[in-house]
Amino acid sequence: MRRCFYFFILVFAAGAVAAGGAFAGGAGSGIKEYKQNISTREYEKRYNAVYGKFTEQMAQQGNPADFVLDDGKDLFKKVDGSAGKSCASCHGENGEKLKGVAATYPKYDPSIKGINTVALQINRCRKDNMGAPELKYESHDQLALELYVKSLSNGVPIKVSIDGPARPFYKAGEAYYYKRQGQLNMSCAICHVKYAGHMIRANLLSNNRHHADHWPGYRLKWGKTGSLQKRFKGCNKKVRAKPLPFQCETYRDLELYLTYQANGLPVEVPGFRM
Ligand code: HEC
Ligand code: HEC
Repeated sequence: MRRCFYFFILVFAAGAVAAGGAFAGGAGSGIKEYKQNISTREYEKRYNAVYGKFTEQMAQQGNPADFVLDDGKDLFKKVDGSAGKSCASCHGENGEKLKGVAATYPKYDPSIKGINTVALQINRCRKDNMGAPELKYESHDQLALELYVKSLSNGVPIKVSIDGPARPFYKAGEAYYYKRQGQLNMSCAICHVKYAGHMIRANLLSNNRHHADHWPGYRLKWGKTGSLQKRFKGCNKKVRAKPLPFQCETYRDLELYLTYQANGLPVEVPGFRM
């Protein structure tokens, strides 16, 4: 298996050199985007061959992250902090006022002069509107609330804007996605655009169009529920680059970039992946 991995690295490296002429490095001159090197139809065929049975199975057995989502629903109604309020006090008993909202996130927010995510906004509301401490990212309660708020948009097509003031942040996210990093000197785009549909060890590399519609979700390899940004960290480590802190500016820009790729797909949380 290991040998196979290094073989792929070699193939990647060769491909990267070939693409090198076209690859301007991101900043300044703009990005020459990679094309996926198999057709969408072939990609779907391979995806179903690798994951089809598994997806069927889990549809029958249920998703462990559903329990986290249930906890989120309770937490939403729970009074916490010095203002004596719950989320429900301001956003409706069953989150009525937040229906469809998460499908428009991440979005530019002038008050932070940057990109706001659902996870960040929840902590801002706790601190500013409830007088409650911020929740630690990836903690059970934080993921539970994020899942609940996002589930209020389930089935709603993602509609993220990159116009106006959001544009430079989108561009920064895109540049990061195409930047070579780590000891292996690979960009996200090499694996998730150019080589999407090819195997790397036992994994089928997925296409980035489908990355931002189903997190937080349960991942078998983690044995627990986690967020999209936890996947960013994992993939940073894969190429031996240093992972960044949750909800830092770069990860929020990156989340905007990836969510924009998923525009038009329905929100579907919690997800389930291997
Ligand atoms: C005291 C009232 C109050 C409480 C309590 C409160 N919020 Fe908010 N929340 C707001 C206000 C005000 C905004 C800003 C809405 C706007 O854009 O004008 C907001 C915005 C939001 C948004 C983004 C809405 C949008 O349209 O973009 C989300 C999501 C959200 N809150 C979730 C929560 C959650 C989850 C909790 C509980 C942890 C919570 N809020 C607690 C008042 C509150
Ligand atoms: C060496 C190849 C490689 C690189 C480079 C890489 N990834 Fe991944 N990534 C993987 C593999 C393998 C998986 C698990 C299989 C899959 O879903 O593609 C994965 C999974 C993911 C997922 C979850 C996909 C899903 O189905 O939900 C996201 C999101 C992701 N990567 C983002 C990134 C980002 C952002 C970067 C750049 C910081 C990056 N990846 C760089 C190999 C890579």
